[in-house]
Amino acid sequence: MVKFFKLFKPLKIGGMTIPNRIVMPAMHLGLAKNGEITKKLTEFYIERAIGGVGFIIIGGCYVSLYGKGLPSMIAIDDDKYIPKLEEFTRTIHDMREDVKVCAQLYHGGRYTFPQIIGTTPISSSATYSRFSKTTPREMTIEDIKREQQAYADAALRAQKAGFDAIEICGSAGYLMDQFLSPIVNKRTDKYGGSLENRMRFPIETIELIRSTVSDDFIVGMRMAGDDFIPNSLTYKDKPVIAKAYQKAGIDYLNVTGGWHETKIPQLTMDVPEGCYTYLAENIKNNVNIPVFASNRINDPVLAEQVLMAEQADAICMGRALIADPYLPQKAQKGDLHDIMHCVACNQGCFDNVFRMMPVSCLRNARAGNEARTKLKEITEKKKVMVIGAGPGGLETARVAAIRGHNVHIFEKDDKIGGLINIIWRPPGRGEFKRMIEDYEYWIKKYNIKIHLEEEIDVNKVKEFNPDVVVIATGSKPIKPPIPGIDGSNVYWANEVFSGDAPIGKNNVIIGGGATGIELSIYIAKFGSLNLEAFDFLTFYRALEVDDALKMLHGSRNKVTVLEKLPKLGSALGRTTKWVLLDKCNALGVKLLTSVDVKEITDDCVIYTDANNNEHSIDNVDYVYYATGVVSNDELYKEVKNIEGIQVEKVGDARKPETVLEAVSRGYKVGNSI
Ligand SMILES: Cc1cc2nc3c(=O)[nH]c(=O)nc-3n(C[C@H](O)[C@H](O)[C@H](O)COP(=O)(O)O)c2cc1C
Repeated sequence: MVKFFKLFKPLKIGGMTIPNRIVMPAMHLGLAKNGEITKKLTEFYIERAIGGVGFIIIGGCYVSLYGKGLPSMIAIDDDKYIPKLEEFTRTIHDMREDVKVCAQLYHGGRYTFPQIIGTTPISSSATYSRFSKTTPREMTIEDIKREQQAYADAALRAQKAGFDAIEICGSAGYLMDQFLSPIVNKRTDKYGGSLENRMRFPIETIELIRSTVSDDFIVGMRMAGDDFIPNSLTYKDKPVIAKAYQKAGIDYLNVTGGWHETKIPQLTMDVPEGCYTYLAENIKNNVNIPVFASNRINDPVLAEQVLMAEQADAICMGRALIADPYLPQKAQKGDLHDIMHCVACNQGCFDNVFRMMPVSCLRNARAGNEARTKLKEITEKKKVMVIGAGPGGLETARVAAIRGHNVHIFEKDDKIGGLINIIWRPPGRGEFKRMIEDYEYWIKKYNIKIHLEEEIDVNKVKEFNPDVVVIATGSKPIKPPIPGIDGSNVYWANEVFSGDAPIGKNNVIIGGGATGIELSIYIAKFGSLNLEAFDFLTFYRALEVDDALKMLHGSRNKVTVLEKLPKLGSALGRTTKWVLLDKCNALGVKLLTSVDVKEITDDCVIYTDANNNEHSIDNVDYVYYATGVVSNDELYKEVKNIEGIQVEKVGDARKPETVLEAVSRGYKVGNSI
């Protein structure tokens, strides 16, 4: 059993003690209504408190209307919000006395939108933001004083409402960063120019907050460990700022990565786990108040390692606790395999938030809907036959088995996972494999009987005689009706990922949706140096580092993607799409939109562009189609009329859908049997 020497040790922050080192950082969940805390939002955090987290930071809570970043944010800009906030802190403290609760004070500055605040956003200077696509108005001295007062008033409200702490959101490119950064702040008064002047806004704000709340009230600061923005502040500049924060009265520093505008991914699956802990360490080495590390720490063992290496004093686990509220409890009990790991897909959290939708989670179908999705007790133990071991089928089986049913999964392949076996293959998507490992564990834990390499037909269903059949037979590809599509040089995209198709030097992909885009990166890089080889060869100086880097990152094969629609990656979430498209560009993948493929020959693809001009791509080795899928539901049609059997459909067999939707539906069906 893994030993945790540090993770479950209490941590003293000023006069407050948190019971362990696991922090749930602020996450806008889209669950507040008219600025007020709702029952759903409270239920969400109750579950995390029960699950064992040490410190819950809620928010961001906007301190003034100018700062409101999104609808359905929590408001703390008026005394009228205090009663609901107070009810919230009381509920959490009643649930677990030792859990400490903090309100993050948020001001979007130039990261908010005129349509949300009803006027032009404000910032240190009138510098255009790529994130909000807005040029703000430069704040007058009156604006500065008013917004600083808004922070202080909000801090006092939080204290009155029973919060144990507040945290200023000074990261990700929000208002504090907008004053600190020379690329945004162009002021010529005492709030601009030198670093000392640029620090004046946050430092004065901290001092004002400190003089407003009681001396023992905890005031933390979230800061960017590196802006990751050209010509803005880097990790080398940050210790000076951290020291100034400490001097001004900050009790802890919560160090995260770069701004929303950065071109360096901060949250996507391709960000290696624990990648940004060096940023926390950089601050920790320069201050003597507690420092939190953040971003892509989704496993308690990794969290323990970060603490052990003294890179931080506490660990933010954001999405990991959305995926599994009970992660801390399970880790403490040694049930590490039982943890439902976040895979950093962002589908239910970040992507939903950008679409102004409430939080959900690909791994945890209960997230954001805790009260209404509790497992139901069964009245009668049923024999459940799940046909297909993709994500929908597996989740149905897991939930039905936890509830006490006798569950059998039948899978025609020699392994479980279905489409997950494909989607974890492209570079940077390996984390999806965790889903298969997790379900393998639960199959054993909940005594689910698994029948691999068994193709099921209607007679076998009758023979097995179940009470419930769950059809999870997935999907099959749509073959576009293009002359030449049946040629021996043409393959379905998924056949590449499963190793059943060759890859050439010059390749064409028909379809620029999520699969087509991921495939283009996979093919362009196919055969490049792998990371382990890079490490080995450069350690022994067998290869010059520059040459090794080219072999690691460079493109090896030509790829052209032909998309019928005017836009690429239509099914990709906002957080992932730009990362993949940037990669395509870096690898020289040719991405053509609004094209119509007319013909495929032995070595050429003919297409027309938006103006109906004909073009041909010559000397093509292979063509792959990634033009969508249709439900594979033949068995459903045959089984649905068998008398005395309840028949359900989940996953792609119901309708082609995302893994998030398949898991969510699987949970619902598993909980309704
Ligand atoms: C849906 C969502 C909303 C977020 N909102 C905020 C926020 O309001 N304030 C903030 O400081 N960070 C916010 N974050 C960033 C998280 O606090 C955290 O730093 C990030 O998710 C990386 O940590 P993780 O890999 O443990 O999830 C948000 C993250 C997500 C996924």
